[in-house]
Amino acid sequence: MVKVLFVCLGNICRSPLAEGVLKKLVKEKGLEDEIEVDSCGTSKYHIGEQPDERTIANAKSNGIELNHKARQFEKGDFRKFTYLITMDEANKNCIERIDETKEFTDKMMLMRFFDETDKNADVPDPYFGGADGFQKVYDIIDRSVNNLLDWLIKKHDLEVKA
Ligand code: 4NP
Repeated sequence: MVKVLFVCLGNICRSPLAEGVLKKLVKEKGLEDEIEVDSCGTSKYHIGEQPDERTIANAKSNGIELNHKARQFEKGDFRKFTYLITMDEANKNCIERIDETKEFTDKMMLMRFFDETDKNADVPDPYFGGADGFQKVYDIIDRSVNNLLDWLIKKHDLEVKA
C-alpha cells in the first residue's frame, strides 16, 4: 500500500483539497486497494473542523466532494506514510524540524515538485484572500496531483484497472 499524506498549515484549505482530488482520481482508476490518502496541518488552529466553506464550495464546483476533519500532523505520520507532501516551503521546514534525526527526509516532497508550470513553488495560501484565490489553488493542485498520480503509478508499478 502506498500511503500519501498532504500537509498544509490549517488543514482546512489546501491539503484537504489535494486529498479530495487524489481520492477521486484513485477511485476512477480503480486504485483504492493500492493508494491510501490523508491530509493534516502543521498547526492546531482548526483541529476537528470541516474544510473552509470556500474550499468546500470551490471543490464542489469542480466536481470534488470533501470528507475530512482537520487534524494536526503527528510524529507517527513519518512512519505511517510513504510520502509526506507539503503545500509550501514553510510546511516542509516545519515537519523537517520535527524529524530531529533526519530519518525521513526522503519521504518529504513539495506539492509543486509535480507542477512543471512553476516547479517547487509554494501552493499559495488562499485563507486570507478572495474567491479567485481558491480557483487558482484548485488549478495548481489539480495539475500537481494528476502528475503525482502518474509518478506513483510508474514508480510503484501500479496496475490501473479503469
Ligand atoms: P491551509 O490554509 O493551510 O491551506 O488550510 C490556512 C487556513 C487557516 C489558517 C492559515 C492557513 N489560519 O491561520 O487559521
